[in-house]
Amino acid sequence: MYDIIMKKRGGGRLSREEIRFFVEGYTKGEIPDYQASALMMAIYFQKMTEEETAELTMAMAESGDMLDLSGIHGIKVDKHSTGGVGDKTSLALGPMAAACGIPVAKMSGRGLGHTGGTIDKLESFPGFTTALTKEQFIDNVNRVGIAIMGQTADLAPADKKLYALRDVTATVDNMSLIASSIMSKKLAAGADAIVLDVKTGSGAFMKEEQDAWALAEEMVKIGKNAGRRTAAVISDMDQPLGCAVGNALEVREAIETLKGNGPEDFLELCLTLGSRMLVAGEAAETLGQAEEMLRTVIRDGSALRKLAEFVEAQGGDGDVVYNPERLQTASIVRPILAPASGYVDHILCDEIGMCSLILGGGRETKDSAIDLSVGLVLCKKTGDPVRAGEPLAYLHANDEKKAQMAEQRFLNAYSIKEAPPEKKKFIRGIIDQSFEHIHRA
Ligand code: URA
Repeated sequence: MYDIIMKKRGGGRLSREEIRFFVEGYTKGEIPDYQASALMMAIYFQKMTEEETAELTMAMAESGDMLDLSGIHGIKVDKHSTGGVGDKTSLALGPMAAACGIPVAKMSGRGLGHTGGTIDKLESFPGFTTALTKEQFIDNVNRVGIAIMGQTADLAPADKKLYALRDVTATVDNMSLIASSIMSKKLAAGADAIVLDVKTGSGAFMKEEQDAWALAEEMVKIGKNAGRRTAAVISDMDQPLGCAVGNALEVREAIETLKGNGPEDFLELCLTLGSRMLVAGEAAETLGQAEEMLRTVIRDGSALRKLAEFVEAQGGDGDVVYNPERLQTASIVRPILAPASGYVDHILCDEIGMCSLILGGGRETKDSAIDLSVGLVLCKKTGDPVRAGEPLAYLHANDEKKAQMAEQRFLNAYSIKEAPPEKKKFIRGIIDQSFEHIHRA
């Protein structure tokens, strides 16, 4: 291990054997944290080549269970988002893709910090569980067309250990390490094709757009090297996605979207990612045809019915899909009023996530309990005109003190100016697997 650290520290390229030696030894506990963190720091400064990154990804993916989804009929397409505020995409897109005939077999996580996790949101449906056995998971996908389960303890355990180590040794934000960490879990989760949603902006992991592009390229290359069809969409996270932020509130917005009443940006994202999923899964030949299929399953109600079926199949109360007023509600619901007239110039997106966290809608540590009913529903987004005294958002809280703290923080996050800001595209670009179609918006 000493020689491996020395080699990387000097800028050398690690061989397949060296990377495998490290990943296997570290997973088994034979290599101590101090040597692993020295290597992570050496990689942080000296970087890794495309081959080293691919090797590290495969070694981490193979460090635990590789889920065998061959029991599911059809091409399995997974969707992954790098995370953001108000990101409820899986809740709407999962049923939409399933209603179009794509088998959706997804492993999801819980939220930590200001970005919520899909599993937390789904637990807003009374009785819903993601604790499925692998057999139930596969059976549900075959019967219903969609299943979502929690990440098993044995999915890419090397990444779990290394990510936790990087988190406390200031070595998270290296492009190769992030890309291999995300992709190792995707590859272990067994999908044939992967559509990535890489967020950029103040509420995203990648604040700068050029970093989001670099991460997207790196992940598409890894997917391609591993023989999986992979595409990446770069989307805006400079303000929350849609209007709702908070678990049950986001579920309600996803339901409204499946009824054809979704916010424009959220619908655009579902259609952009979804059409790539349908083409990758060979349910459609062209992107245009795929988009029409996705719009149809919203129009004819089959995507909404698919959501209800999916919720029921995982022990939840599917009737809530048709009667969303039965979702948990907060005791305090009140508007946050605009302090001035003008246009919303920008919103500090991660601060809006923090407001939801303060209200109790997120986790500060991995064991904290969360309040599913709280959060915010935005009425004004970037570029919108606003008059003083008009609601900027509605706050949903269960505690007056927390409500006041969140309101103050919310107002500090909104910037209102006299002139409208320059309009930016919501979808910043797309990379498809051949790299022939790098569309920059
Ligand atoms: N998400 C991950 O799963 N891994 C990283 O390294 C960063 C974000």
